[in-house]
Amino acid sequence: MKQDNASSTAYTVLQGLLYTSMRPEYASLVDDETAQTGRLILSGTEEGKHRLAQLDGTVSRSLLRLMESLVLPGITLHYALRKRFIEVKTLEAIEQDTTQVISLGAGFDTLAWRLHSRYPGVQFVEIDHPATSREKTEAFSRSGLSPENLRFLAVDLTEHDLAGVLAENDCFDPNKKTLFICEGVLMYLNLGAVTMLFKTLKQFNSQSNFVFTAIAPMDSRNNNASWLLKLYLKIKNEPLSWSIEQAEIETFLKEQGYDLLDSADGVEMYLRFLGASPKRKIHCGEFAIASKAS
Ligand SMILES: C[S@@+](CC[C@H](N)C(=O)[O-])C[C@H]1O[C@@H](n2cnc3c(N)ncnc32)[C@H](O)[C@@H]1O
Repeated sequence: MKQDNASSTAYTVLQGLLYTSMRPEYASLVDDETAQTGRLILSGTEEGKHRLAQLDGTVSRSLLRLMESLVLPGITLHYALRKRFIEVKTLEAIEQDTTQVISLGAGFDTLAWRLHSRYPGVQFVEIDHPATSREKTEAFSRSGLSPENLRFLAVDLTEHDLAGVLAENDCFDPNKKTLFICEGVLMYLNLGAVTMLFKTLKQFNSQSNFVFTAIAPMDSRNNNASWLLKLYLKIKNEPLSWSIEQAEIETFLKEQGYDLLDSADGVEMYLRFLGASPKRKIHCGEFAIASKAS
């Protein structure tokens, strides 16, 4: 990620989500509030306006669709499915007395933004790289809201260690039952950083729940990323650092001192949230996991 620019992948995820909201067959996955909030975030920057223009032009939208089918077929629908999984798990956690929700590398996700007013007794905190966090905070200010129970923390986690950030900041309360969320981020970390993250979250609060996404190895038969994406990543030398088969996640979690509560791949999420099996090719490779410190 370039130090001064907001994360391009954060833009891509939000644009993909909005694209899904415009497809009648999948629009039920993205409610109006999410779509409006997403548009508000994008409308504040040049890059965001460009992404919106791509969505709103008929030809440019067709081009987006073509690019997706060539590089990572089904990924925009997948963004909506994984966000739905995370939202369901967050609402369940709140029903089970979680009073603190901390999203790591939150990007332009709208979950905390939408839920904080519905749950004034829950503290929501988003941590993201300063370049991305700044744009999100500005968008939030434009909305005219300044609630006590939603905080945005601008932290470069390659420069500051998460344990220190959690210990030093008064918006984190280690005594509160906490849900950590890490969506679309862990694959960029190496194994050492991933295991350290699990350790840090458990040390912060031994009752932590942790909802995250992970990807199956690029050469796995469970990952249908196209050869074009694999070639692109190789040329760019942008390796996806951490990957794991879904079948191995329970053992991995045990080794980190966590219990697996639930996991779902693209097909399973499609079935859960759209009520049928997919009729065309969907993205397979990334899966979502709910876990609990044991
Ligand atoms: C693929 S995006 C995912 C965004 C969001 N979680 C979602 O799924 O919609 C990855 C996120 O990680 C954040 N990130 C990358 N490097 C970071 C760093 N060194 N410190 C903090 N956040 C970082 C980016 O700013 C970006 O928001």
